[in-house]
Amino acid sequence: MSDTTVKPVFQPNREFAKTARIKNMCEYKELATWAEEDYEGFWDHFAKEKIDWFEPYGKVLDDSNMPFAKWFEGGKLNVAHQCIDRHLDSRKNKAAIIFEGDRGDKKIVTYLELYYNVNKMANLLKNEFGIKKGDRVVIYMPMILEAAYAMLACTRIGAIHSIVFGGFSAEALRDRIIDAEAKLVITADGAFRKDKPYMLKPVVDKALEEGCDCVNKVLVVQRNGEDVDWKAGRDYSYNEMIEQQSAVCESEPMDSEDPMFLLYTSGSTGKPKGVQHNTAGYILWAQMTMEWVFDVKENDTYWCTADIGWITGHTYIVYGPLAMGATTLMFEGVPTYPDAGRPWKMVEEYKINQFYTAPTAIRVLHKTGAEEPAKYDLSSLKVLGTVGEPIDPPAWKWYYEEIGGGKCAIVDTYWQTETGGHMVTPLPGATPIKPACATFPLPGIMGEILDPETGKKVGAGESGYMCVTKPWPSMIRGVWGDPERFVKSYFGDVKKDGQPVYFTGDGANYDDDGYITITGRTDDVINVSGHRMGTAEVEAACKKHPNVAEVAVVGKPHELKGEGIFAYVVLKGEESMAEDVEMSKEINNVIKQEIGNIAVCDDIAFVPGLPKTRSGKIMRRILRSIAKGEAITQDTSTLEDPSVVEKIQEVVNACR
Ligand code: PRX
Repeated sequence: MSDTTVKPVFQPNREFAKTARIKNMCEYKELATWAEEDYEGFWDHFAKEKIDWFEPYGKVLDDSNMPFAKWFEGGKLNVAHQCIDRHLDSRKNKAAIIFEGDRGDKKIVTYLELYYNVNKMANLLKNEFGIKKGDRVVIYMPMILEAAYAMLACTRIGAIHSIVFGGFSAEALRDRIIDAEAKLVITADGAFRKDKPYMLKPVVDKALEEGCDCVNKVLVVQRNGEDVDWKAGRDYSYNEMIEQQSAVCESEPMDSEDPMFLLYTSGSTGKPKGVQHNTAGYILWAQMTMEWVFDVKENDTYWCTADIGWITGHTYIVYGPLAMGATTLMFEGVPTYPDAGRPWKMVEEYKINQFYTAPTAIRVLHKTGAEEPAKYDLSSLKVLGTVGEPIDPPAWKWYYEEIGGGKCAIVDTYWQTETGGHMVTPLPGATPIKPACATFPLPGIMGEILDPETGKKVGAGESGYMCVTKPWPSMIRGVWGDPERFVKSYFGDVKKDGQPVYFTGDGANYDDDGYITITGRTDDVINVSGHRMGTAEVEAACKKHPNVAEVAVVGKPHELKGEGIFAYVVLKGEESMAEDVEMSKEINNVIKQEIGNIAVCDDIAFVPGLPKTRSGKIMRRILRSIAKGEAITQDTSTLEDPSVVEKIQEVVNACR
């Protein structure tokens, strides 16, 4: 049974609602009903209204070969055109991107400047590096303007970008380059963090040391000016080459279903998957959700604190805001530097109207700077957003009261890399909100909580699986190079009326008012600071340490990160050690090398064995309970060696 504690309800701000795009629940219901009754008509209407088509599409939805849905096939468009060119008549001098560097350096790029900069980069990619439609380009960049130019330049010429988060290690980068068979890597020497330079180019050099024969060129943007190794004939300087490029570049007419980008994300098994998004459906939903959920107005300034290495950065820093012609802020630094007032200082300075961040950031800012918001004028704020993990009620309360002054809606946006854009979220002018509650599916999204056994919608207070029962335009189109994995990962667990439906991997429940609360992953994916980590991935990294015989990794509640990583390690040929600080460090170093700092384990317990069934399956639920310090309620009689549970508990208790 789920937590059915009655939550307080906060009504939308009336003044705000007057001019909101969706003004009340009646309007929400009208839209949702329209989609339910005439699904294709609904999407057809918005596709025609929102997208500047070069050529019209034929069929709205082709679902004849599910789960491989096709949307707006035959239509021609270009995402860079949608995000830039079409705004030039009315917005050429409007700020498209406002950049603030770690050290406080600032730059404002208008839509016209963005047009020229993207065109130049597109020409550079096309003419100097021979990149053409369908080629994969890996972007391994810090949060600088050139990262956005690179994304848009790729989409302008029809290249498929695959952004790898700058915190990933050389090994992780290499895996992604090889899997995508990328032709070019775009990177920077490095950037600044907490007033100090940090480096990216050396990571690329290391990644390319072996196995990356597909890549023959690296384009390097100079950001921090530190010395880097230079491989003649392979490495090229963006800063030296860009000025010679023509500022005019025709945008490539793309079919609606042409792949637009790949983004690797963790699943419960195996290596990260290359989630593929295609052109029209993705950009349509990016724009529509931007307009509905953040309700950005013409003169507003919007700030999403994500990194472009994650889906939130793709959809809600670059593509969504620019597609609707908004002003989007891009920030290189960290929110707690030079102090935990930095974001609030920036809200005051730029008069930010919509602010979008992750619960983990809210918790850190609350914990390290509860008094900071009061020092700044935050009255410009209208909408606050959260994403990435369930937000806990105390963090929600602080955000609502201290940042939003009790007058801003909090849009708790639930979605995933695979969904491309928001799925379940409040609408700021319409939805009465409840703390830590994602509320209702957006109009057009057939989101339902189903019982995995019966495929029926669960009742109030019952837990079930968060599913989407119809294809939607911005849904994942495939796992790069592995169609079977796509079907198995997302359409293998739940059936409704005998048909497989998209399962998100998350558990959820309805309350008595039909509000949806997301309770977290039902699989072996851990959510660390809003980032997905596959247990299999972390385990594979641990096993690279020569002394590790066996390992099982689980999530454990963490005050700031939401979830931390807890590893149970069996060492080779040695007695179990309750705590071996040196060995823990060594194992974490291997993880840093294999994946990156984000996958480092918070706890490592050296145990004599793992709780396995007779068929060899590790019972992770038992390990999760032990990590949390909970009593074991699971039946341990099916274990090969039930006594191991007590031994593990002893080790873990000794470390507490
Ligand atoms: O478990 C859910 C959690 O984050 C997962 C998706 O992670 P990722 O693909 O990295 O995308 C993160 C940004 C969209 C989901 O399966 N999640 C995301 N948003 C929420 C959430 N859990 C609860 N509430 C949310 N608002």
